[in-house]
Amino acid sequence: MSNNIRPETMERITTKALADAFIEEQVAAVRAQVGDKKVLLALSGGVDSSVVAALLIKAIGKQLVCVHVNHGLMRKGESEDVVRIFGQELDANLVYVDATDRFLDLLAGVSEPEKKRKIIGAEFINVFAEEAHKLEGIDFLAQGTIYPDILESIKAAEGKKAVKSHHNVGGLPEDLKFELVEPIKLLYKDEVRVVGEALGLPHGMVYRQPFPGPGLGVRCLGAITRDRLHALREADAILREEFDKSGLAEKVWQYFIAVPDIKSVGVRDESRYEGWPAIIRAVNTKDAMTATIEEIPYALLHHITFRITHEVEGINRVLLDLTPKPIGTIEWE
Ligand code: XMP
Repeated sequence: MSNNIRPETMERITTKALADAFIEEQVAAVRAQVGDKKVLLALSGGVDSSVVAALLIKAIGKQLVCVHVNHGLMRKGESEDVVRIFGQELDANLVYVDATDRFLDLLAGVSEPEKKRKIIGAEFINVFAEEAHKLEGIDFLAQGTIYPDILESIKAAEGKKAVKSHHNVGGLPEDLKFELVEPIKLLYKDEVRVVGEALGLPHGMVYRQPFPGPGLGVRCLGAITRDRLHALREADAILREEFDKSGLAEKVWQYFIAVPDIKSVGVRDESRYEGWPAIIRAVNTKDAMTATIEEIPYALLHHITFRITHEVEGINRVLLDLTPKPIGTIEWE
């Protein structure tokens, strides 16, 4: 446990020079730890796993095998970005698994949020373990554990209760025996970002807003259907594009669309047009334990509403969620 505690003397990484020194140190440490052996990494495309991937590619190149599982609940363009940045630009050893049908088939008809999370978490492990079994001669597993995760597990060990079963990869089956490589486990999130930029990862990837492990699965409320999931993904892409253009993306901690399983009556081309509402949620927080509502200029809201209702098939209304946390959690499920 002692090497899981950040030494008080450790300087906060705030500059490129400090990040470069950290990277150099970790490259040497990883090489010393793994030698000429192979390392496996579940690469979600989130900040932490992406920074670990870039760091390990620098340290051990093709000895790193990245597995990207597309569970079909990613945001628009995310899996494509992982393939382009890691598979092509960084020339990584990347296994891309499109498991969309497996996940959506298992989730069909399941409306209870915690049940949905459990299915997604368990199936993620199944798919990842299947891929790991196909690969030969892997001794190490890299993980994007960061310091808040370690502090969180210390709290959990002390018996403090969580509101939701947050998990990305909830652990691996017993028969997969790996030694762990966790090069960023003593870093705070802001430091991970500085290191990511120093490694040359795109700004958009390094400053990506937090995205839950179960992805759009907990934003396509209730039982997920492919048509509503598609509408949600398209509406969310419009929101993100407009937040990027207006500069709000830099100011708001998390912003997204949720689509409930409710239809209302609308009118289009002089005919009845039933559709789902897209709910905009935009919050600011420091630690995700409490959150405040970010104001969005009305002109921008009108523009986003116009675009979503005109461009996304199946959405006929746009609503704004004004609820702080508490009482509402950030996600709807
Ligand atoms: P809540 O909804 O609990 O969310 O206020 C707090 C933060 O956690 C994220 N979140 C999750 N992250 N797996 C994750 O990895 C999950 O199941 C999950 N549920 C919520 C949420 O997006 C917010 O940033």
